[in-house]
Amino acid sequence: MRVDEASLREDFDALAAIGATPAGGVDRPSFGDAHLAARRWFLERAKAAGLETRVDAAGNHSAVLPANGPTLLLGSHLDSVPDGGRYDGALGVVAALHVLLALQGHDLPLTLEAIDFTDEEGTLVGLLGSEALTGVLSDEVLRNPRGGRDALLAGLERAGLHEEQLRDARRDPTTLAGYVELHIEQGPGLEHAGTQIGIVTGIVGARSFTLDFRGDARHAGTTPMNARRDAGLAAAVFAAAANALVVRDFPGCVATVGDMRFHPGAFNIVPGSVRVSLEFRSLERAQLDALETVLLAEAKAAAKQHALGVDVTPVGHWEPTALDAGVRDAIETAAEGLGLTALELPSGAGHDAQALAGITPSGMIFVPSVGGISHNPSEHTEWEDCVNGANTLLHTALELCRVYAVRGT
Ligand code: HGY
Ligand code: MN
Ligand code: MN
Repeated sequence: MRVDEASLREDFDALAAIGATPAGGVDRPSFGDAHLAARRWFLERAKAAGLETRVDAAGNHSAVLPANGPTLLLGSHLDSVPDGGRYDGALGVVAALHVLLALQGHDLPLTLEAIDFTDEEGTLVGLLGSEALTGVLSDEVLRNPRGGRDALLAGLERAGLHEEQLRDARRDPTTLAGYVELHIEQGPGLEHAGTQIGIVTGIVGARSFTLDFRGDARHAGTTPMNARRDAGLAAAVFAAAANALVVRDFPGCVATVGDMRFHPGAFNIVPGSVRVSLEFRSLERAQLDALETVLLAEAKAAAKQHALGVDVTPVGHWEPTALDAGVRDAIETAAEGLGLTALELPSGAGHDAQALAGITPSGMIFVPSVGGISHNPSEHTEWEDCVNGANTLLHTALELCRVYAVRGT
C-alpha cells in the first residue's frame, strides 16, 4: 500500500501557496491571515474527502478516521516561523491527512487522527496546542509568552479562542494509542549519511529568555563616548561573549541571540534599552542548567561593564525528551518493509512530539533536508524523500495498528 503521490503533491503545493513568499518559502506566523487560511484549507480538504473534522479549545485542527479503538495521532503544524520554509510542519500535516485518505474504508483497530497543532513555532508561546492537549500548558508561559502577552491575546482573539478555555483541549491519555510525526530533519545528518529515513531517538530541550539591558537614551552627537550608558553596546558585548563561551565550553550545545529590539531605535539616539532574545538547547538537562547559569552571569557582567542594569525574564522552557522505543521499532519495520535505508538520530529542533511524549508513546520520522537548511525560504526536501516519508508514516501507522490488534495496547 502507498499514499496517492499525485494527490499528495497537489495538496502539498496548494498548502505551500498559502502565505507563499517570493523566495519560495512561506510566511505563516500563528494566527496571521495566512496561517488561519492554511488551517481552513486543511479542514475543507478533509471534509471534501469525507473525513470527520474537529477543532479543539486550543485551536488544534483535526481530520478523523473513526474506528472502535483509541486514537493514534499523526500530525505536525501549519504555522511557520517568519519568512520560513514550505516543508517545516506542513509536510507532516499533509502526509498525515494522506495516511487517513489511503486507509479510508479499511477496518482498523485504531481511530486515526491527522492533527495540526496550534503555534508550534512559538511566535506566540511555543507548543501551545500540543501542551494544551497534553495538559501541561502552564500559567507561567501564558503570563510571559515569548511572543509577548499582547500578541498572544490579539492572536487568540483573531482565532476566536479564549485563554481561559485553552486547557479544555486536554485529552485523557487513556483515549490515545500514540503519536507519530513526519518532519524534515532541518539538519545535515541524513544527507551526510546518504540515508533516506531518520528514526528520531530524542528531542533537545530548550530554554528562552528575554534580557532587557537598561541604559540611558542620550543625544548621539553631544554625548561623549566616555559618558554613555549604551544599552546597544552591552547587548552586543553579551552576544559575542555568549557565542564564544558556548563554542569553547559546551560542545554539542547551541545558544542563539535571535533578536535584538533597540529603544528608541534611531541613528541619532544612544540606545536607552535593548531587548535581547536568547535561546539555548541541549539533549542533557544538566547542560541546560549549566548553560543557564553561565549565560545569565555573562549578561549581568556585560551590563555591569557598561554601568547598566539587566532584567532577565524566562519565556520558554522545554525539557529534553526521549522518544518511545516501540514507536521507533514500528518506524524501523515500516522503513525496512518499504526497502528504505534508515538510521537513528536525535533532533536538534523542537517538536510537538516532545509534548505528546509526556502522555502517550510518541515517535518521529525524519526525511533529509537539502544542505541541512531550515527556517529559511530555501528550505528544501526532494519530492521523492517527501513521498518516502509519507509512505513510512502510512506503514508505521499500519504496524502500530497490527501491534495493537495483537496486544491490545
Ligand atoms: O524551534 C524549533 O526547534 C522548532 O522549529 N519549533
Ligand atoms: Mn517544525
Ligand atoms: Mn520550525
